[in-house]
Amino acid sequence: MKKYTNINDIPNLSETIQQAIQLKENPFRFSEFGKYKTLVMLFFNSSLRTRLSTEKAAKNLGMQVMVLNVSDTWNLEFEDGTIMNLNTSEHVKEAAQVISQYADIIAVRAFPTLKDRLKDEQEFVLNSFIKYASVPIVNMESSTSHPLQALTDAITIEELKTKPKPKVVLSWAPHPKALPHAVANSFIKMMQSIDINFSITHPKGYELNQEITKNTPINYNQEDALKDADFVYVKNWSSYNDYGQILNEDTNWMMTQEKLGKAKFMHCLPVRRNVVVEDAVLDSEQSVVIQQANNRTYAAQVVLKQILENL
Ligand code: CP
Repeated sequence: MKKYTNINDIPNLSETIQQAIQLKENPFRFSEFGKYKTLVMLFFNSSLRTRLSTEKAAKNLGMQVMVLNVSDTWNLEFEDGTIMNLNTSEHVKEAAQVISQYADIIAVRAFPTLKDRLKDEQEFVLNSFIKYASVPIVNMESSTSHPLQALTDAITIEELKTKPKPKVVLSWAPHPKALPHAVANSFIKMMQSIDINFSITHPKGYELNQEITKNTPINYNQEDALKDADFVYVKNWSSYNDYGQILNEDTNWMMTQEKLGKAKFMHCLPVRRNVVVEDAVLDSEQSVVIQQANNRTYAAQVVLKQILENL
């Protein structure tokens, strides 16, 4: 693997999932693999899981890790040709090249504005690092995708499935804040890439980018969509067409034990209890959110290992 900025960068998905499961069985098998190599993680936004699991993954491979909260450094400029006489102090052209002097791999987290769809879809932060850095880039969640989370979710389904082709449903949930589309986008692309029975349920108006959903069935009736599901992945996202808007706060879309039936409950976390999902689900044995969070380490580890192989 040369970089990991979206799930298409994985050369062999089923083999990669199996490799991650093997790494989980013996996380320190390749503990010398990344010796003398450094991962620099850049955070433009908050994180709990991504930050800790990616650092743990790198350390399991023997790498050194440096973390930079971008809010602690100089204000970066991303536009070309700007007269930098206002608030920005350093251009990403220099910053990305400088960080490349200290890093063998750079990982970046940069959320969307949710105000300007075109700008968000241009992925100007992630793509600037891809363009100007001289080392491979890992996407730790960008404006439109969260490929480490999606790989984690595929690993978790592979571990837990009890039939060759389980039914997996992505179900929208209410949320008081406008949230990005990244997790849903990458989950959909990942589910389209593995052999499962996959569908999406959400209220009208919450259609995601059709270039991503493609032919995946969309059912506006949540109860009908969830029938006989094996895995229910719950996630809020703001409207894509009315970009970044909250159109519906209907609490009836919250996931309950009754609606979940016998399915496993999945969520990327963090999750708002009794808004997105009721306590009874999260506190039940059907919830696999902690297993997902644990698998974040092995998803990151397999990605870093495959990139190290190509350095
Ligand atoms: N799921 C996830 O990416 O969690 P964090 O935002 O805490 O990293």
